[in-house]
Amino acid sequence: MVDIGPPPECWTRRHLLGLEELSAEEITLILDKAMVFKEAMTAGRKKIPLLTGKTCVNLFFENSTRTRTSFTLAARRLGADTLDFSASTSSLSKGETFIDTAKNLEAMGVDVVVVRHRTPGTPQLLAQNLRCSVINAGDGPHEHPTQGLLDIMTIRERRGSLKGLTVALVGDIAHSRTARSNIWGLKKLGAHVIVCGPSTLVSPRWAEIDVEYSYSLDDILPRVDVLNLLRIQFERQFSRPFPSVREYAHLYTMDAQRLAKTKDDILILAPGPINRGVEVTPEVADGSHSAILEQVTNGVAVRMAVLWLVAGERGKGEGGCVAAGLAPRCSSI
Ligand code: CP
Repeated sequence: MVDIGPPPECWTRRHLLGLEELSAEEITLILDKAMVFKEAMTAGRKKIPLLTGKTCVNLFFENSTRTRTSFTLAARRLGADTLDFSASTSSLSKGETFIDTAKNLEAMGVDVVVVRHRTPGTPQLLAQNLRCSVINAGDGPHEHPTQGLLDIMTIRERRGSLKGLTVALVGDIAHSRTARSNIWGLKKLGAHVIVCGPSTLVSPRWAEIDVEYSYSLDDILPRVDVLNLLRIQFERQFSRPFPSVREYAHLYTMDAQRLAKTKDDILILAPGPINRGVEVTPEVADGSHSAILEQVTNGVAVRMAVLWLVAGERGKGEGGCVAAGLAPRCSSI
């Protein structure tokens, strides 16, 4: 039997909407539980039926490979039933509203809605209108909390602790929900965070919340412990933030020459999907410093932990930031 322990006293949230509102204790709890699930799966336990009788629906309005699949796997490994909602073949095309659609799914007995949407605040809106649990699987450029958690889990697993580490997020900071969730989570656990990229994609205002910013990857390389290489989100941009992909690659692609300037034990992460040759070259993405596929493995464990916490006994409590009356916040930086 897997010893996941009793429902933790410190967890009372029904939803996971972002890492900005979580405490360091709550983040650590999720990571600790994810490790228990990972160890059980590594030992060959494919089914841990802690959510038998629950139903989780994936409500994805943007494409996904990793997040959607791993939420489905995580729910099934916990013994829950899963549903995949297809927006393009649904009655949304007949004029039904987004909230009516979600309420109808809930009326069929859904316990957890996992939502991805291009509009920031969509998960908060659902949480305000549904009685079931809502998990944010990415809302525009706002937050992607389970991605932040799995990135942080991978760093913690490799390094033991986040305290005192310097973690650089490189690339399209302006449009990246992964960057925001990483920033909140990493800072709460004691890491120093640098955001790095072209000046059109990195605001100096990050310094206002004690996040260092840099426009030069080559300058910061010698002092970073972890590099998290973010994709340029062309789909969220109205105009090109740099003259050409070739110019971006010249300044920011993590390649073998740049790797030689880093610490010997540098850890290379990328949330995926990766564009080989743009944010990272194949030799680095597939090299010995890379933990990119380990991140994906950890994603299943993190999502099992989150599903167990929000849909389990303690998850029937307060609604987190919604219950506290706070509007969803999408940082202007
Ligand atoms: N990292 C991530 O969110 O990947 P997907 O878009 O494939 O889910």
